Amino acid sequence: MNVLILGATSAIAQAVARQFLLSATTPVKFVLVGRNDDKLALIAEDLIGRSATAAHVQVQDLTQLDAMDACISRAWETLGSIDVALIAHGTLPEQREIEKSWELTEQALRENALSHMALMEALALRMEAIKRGTIAVIGSVAGDRGRQSNYIYGAAKGATAIYAQGLRNRLTKSGVHLLTIKPGFVDTPMTESIAKKGLLWASPEQVAQDIVKAVQKKRNVIYTPGFWWLIMTIVKSVPEFIFKKLSM
Ligand SMILES: NC(=O)c1ccc[n+]([C@@H]2O[C@H](COP(=O)([O-])OP(=O)(O)OC[C@H]3O[C@@H](n4cnc5c(N)ncnc54)[C@H](OP(=O)(O)O)[C@@H]3O)[C@@H](O)[C@H]2O)c1
Repeated sequence: MNVLILGATSAIAQAVARQFLLSATTPVKFVLVGRNDDKLALIAEDLIGRSATAAHVQVQDLTQLDAMDACISRAWETLGSIDVALIAHGTLPEQREIEKSWELTEQALRENALSHMALMEALALRMEAIKRGTIAVIGSVAGDRGRQSNYIYGAAKGATAIYAQGLRNRLTKSGVHLLTIKPGFVDTPMTESIAKKGLLWASPEQVAQDIVKAVQKKRNVIYTPGFWWLIMTIVKSVPEFIFKKLSM
């Protein structure tokens, strides 16, 4: 199995890579894409130690939108073809800080939506041509409903989910699978500044198990952990005239 991971230094992505190795029935080769070559080299070494047949490192800032097509081409050439591509990079910007700056807002949208769209599109073109492959993209429950505390990040994640939904509709006839992943709170470096940890928080390993299972079962959209489906169904059902008055 040939696996491409975009944003491979992410804690969730690392756990997914390890989970792929644990559940694999065939040899697994990786291309790991990220912007930090030292971290990528350590992750590659770890995956080789855990039975990966190969783990190639590709250094790329994933906000360079016009380089995304070449990025996918290079990974495709390295692996021969790609069976599964996970798009995992992202940032969690400080809402109150970035809402005052169009430049920072634009950057957040590039980091959390536009780059994902460019990568999905480049992967879709190649997978459509060979009529197989899986694209898995990490969105967020934050993309399901806008809240004052994180509506720029939420707008990016919501846009990614809608884009993925439309692309899934296009890809279905070619047999290419697209999975949208909506995690809730996950204990990773992205959320280290958030003090509250409790029952709603999951580990990257828990989320990784759900992601790998969903890839294997060709699911379309998953909430992880699964209880977030119920929470978000309730959140989405609150009438707007009430929701707008809540401090969320
Ligand atoms: N943690 C949560 O509670 C949570 C909840 C819902 C969704 N998510 C989503 O899950 C995904 C993974 O996040 P995580 O929780 O695993 O956080 P994380 O460990 O902080 O990972 C985020 C990764 O994105 C990478 N990245 C950011 N900008 C990049 C760029 N321009 N080019 C290349 N790589 C870039 C970072 O690379 P560096 O190592 O170089 O900084 C980092 O490895 C993200 O899409 C996030 O939005 C997370």
